Amino acid sequence: AAQRESDLSLARLIIVSNREPYEHRLVKNHLIWERTSGGLVSALDPMMRRLGGTWIAWGSGKADRDVVDQDMTVEVPPDAPTYRLRRVWLESGEIKGGYQGYANQVLWPLCHLTLDRVDYRKLYWHAYQAMNARFAEVVLGELQMKPGFVWVHDFHLALLPGMVKASLPKQPVAMFWHIPWPGPDAFRILPERREVLESLLTCDLLMFQTQSFLHCFVECAKEFLGADLHADDGHLEYKGHATRVVSRPISIGFQTWSERAQSPQVTRSMDVLRNLHVFQPEVRIGLGVDRLDYTKGLLKRLWAIDAFFQQFPQYRGRFTFIQIAVPTRGDVEAYRRYRELIRETVNDINMRYSSISNPGSSHASRWRPVEFREGRIGLDTLAAYYRMADLALVSSVYDGMNLVAKEYVASQVDEKGVLLVSHMAGAAEEMTDALVINPYDPEGVAESIRQALEMPLQERRERMHRMRSYLAAHDIRAWADECLRDAGILPPHDSPSFE
Ligand code: ADP
Ligand code: F6P
Repeated sequence: AAQRESDLSLARLIIVSNREPYEHRLVKNHLIWERTSGGLVSALDPMMRRLGGTWIAWGSGKADRDVVDQDMTVEVPPDAPTYRLRRVWLESGEIKGGYQGYANQVLWPLCHLTLDRVDYRKLYWHAYQAMNARFAEVVLGELQMKPGFVWVHDFHLALLPGMVKASLPKQPVAMFWHIPWPGPDAFRILPERREVLESLLTCDLLMFQTQSFLHCFVECAKEFLGADLHADDGHLEYKGHATRVVSRPISIGFQTWSERAQSPQVTRSMDVLRNLHVFQPEVRIGLGVDRLDYTKGLLKRLWAIDAFFQQFPQYRGRFTFIQIAVPTRGDVEAYRRYRELIRETVNDINMRYSSISNPGSSHASRWRPVEFREGRIGLDTLAAYYRMADLALVSSVYDGMNLVAKEYVASQVDEKGVLLVSHMAGAAEEMTDALVINPYDPEGVAESIRQALEMPLQERRERMHRMRSYLAAHDIRAWADECLRDAGILPPHDSPSFE
């Protein structure tokens, strides 16, 4: 790590997020590390492995605080350390009110336009302020040790830029907003809309996933703060400070996924998984991989699969949809209820079709329309699912990016699969050779599933090939370099990157 950081001596990278990339658990007196799930970690861990630096995050693992002896800093990744992870210890009120409350029950549903799910309480706001102040204390402490470039991530830490700037007005601060930004009509319902916007407009650089989220933010800044947009150079001016605002769609380690998908372990796993879930070689496979979050449109996806078997009965016994779902935010009631609902709906669909006889297939009794696998799975296993799936279905009702869509494309080394992606996911803007679906239209999605299964091989290859070429050029490395160029940390184009 020391070597890497000296490469960055002009600008030591300090990234800050709520979720930590690795967390501790104690199993039979042994300290176990686990990678956490979610798009933010999937994107930023490869970046930090490459660039080195310090990642400040909440120490959320069950054993993080007690067993690691209050030691705030560890070197990660555990197998081959390249960067520092500095943990922030949050008090339970900050976790409940700030993370579970204001972040997960106010900002998350608001930004994803699921307004009925917004559950606002004033005390959540106070806890959110306290949680952000706790992060600010650690960031300022870190800067005191050694200067660096501060790059804040996501909606949990909207107040952090303002807090850092209040103590160190000249400190460069950037922010990447990983989730959608709503238009003024929705953002208006946030009682603290001004405070949130004011903090974000203390940043020197503010980044969004897509042009349309960026546009919504600019509209909010103009309407609620009266900020001025300098359209010629992409700055927002507020109280004499200029914030550069850009859209930078985040990505994945394309090469890593592509190589992983071709490894012997993955090839072996594909056979094992096929035998586990489908019993005949001719059965085609659809795949969904998600955190068990209502924004992913899992219920609508299941309705679409049901509609598919209704509309196209010839596929009964010949197509199985595998859903991998990792439970998330289990302390929030809405997530617990959603998880139950998804399980019940899967069971209901499987029960109904198991009693329908399927004339064309001798293995009908063993066939299930939906194979549901819950829990976090390893990267090799995930790559095996991606590679063997004839189609992947992303049905988010709203999504900042959706990295699963990109991971599927990167793992499709045989170029035979078809990506179906919701027009409400940021990924749809870049994955233009996917079949674009409307998650609110189950019959339409069912028709797209049929179209994917019946698409000629040549067309599948061409579409997948184009998406793979695009992703190879727009991977996480290109994204990080572009962001750091925007921040003035890396020299303009044509210069070699950090390594
Ligand atoms: P979000 O940012 O909302 O979590 P994304 O689709 O962008 O959504 O990212 C989800 C990430 O979590 C992906 O990198 C995916 O590989 C990972 N992931 C999802 N489900 C699982 C699982 N069951 N096991 C391991 N990783 C998972
Ligand atoms: O941007 C997506 C995201 O919200 C990340 O910020 C977050 O780390 C991830 O999804 C998973 O959610 P959580 O951190 O609440 O487990």
